[in-house]
Amino acid sequence: MSRKKIFLTEEKIKRRVEQLAQEISSAYLDQEVMVVGVLKGAFIFMADLVRGLTIPVRIDFVALSSYGFSSQSSGVVQIIKDIGQSITNKQVLIIEDIVDTGLTLHYLKERFLAREPKEVKICTLLDKPARREVPLKADYVGFVVPDAFLVGYGLDYQEKYRHLRDIFIIEV
Ligand code: IMP
Ligand code: MG
Repeated sequence: MSRKKIFLTEEKIKRRVEQLAQEISSAYLDQEVMVVGVLKGAFIFMADLVRGLTIPVRIDFVALSSYGFSSQSSGVVQIIKDIGQSITNKQVLIIEDIVDTGLTLHYLKERFLAREPKEVKICTLLDKPARREVPLKADYVGFVVPDAFLVGYGLDYQEKYRHLRDIFIIEV
């Protein structure tokens, strides 16, 4: 059993997610947004966030896989499950659990931009800027976090802990 220490409580996360939903709703006014969640980590954050939105939304998901020799992001990413609808001329908002090196979202954003959407923006619950390898900037950030490994509220360590209501720092 790995040791874990509470980092963000359910209450604190809830308040911030509500603020983000309001911020996003006022930024888009009444325009429709295609909200695309990155599986699996974003599933809980996305479920809470979209219920706070007051704008018209369409929902979809992508699943990405990162291949490499280490357990860390290699930058070689593949879309293993794509969205099922066209984003040409649409406003796309990607929802992610955490931006670490930035390689995953850098790749996804480029792939989406090639489909000629009106715009692609990024909303991430957590941002770990200390580990960035490409200049990826999220448009909406829940919390800036230190260089530690976080689990809970969708985030996993070896597929465990995703169901936890709070976010913990884990010693791996
Ligand atoms: P990157 O930005 O391409 O390095 O990769 C981001 C992905 O790595 C996220 O979507 C997570 O799946 C995973 N990741 C990075 N840091 C953490 C963490 O602290 N806890 C859990 N997953 C993480
Ligand atoms: Mg992820």
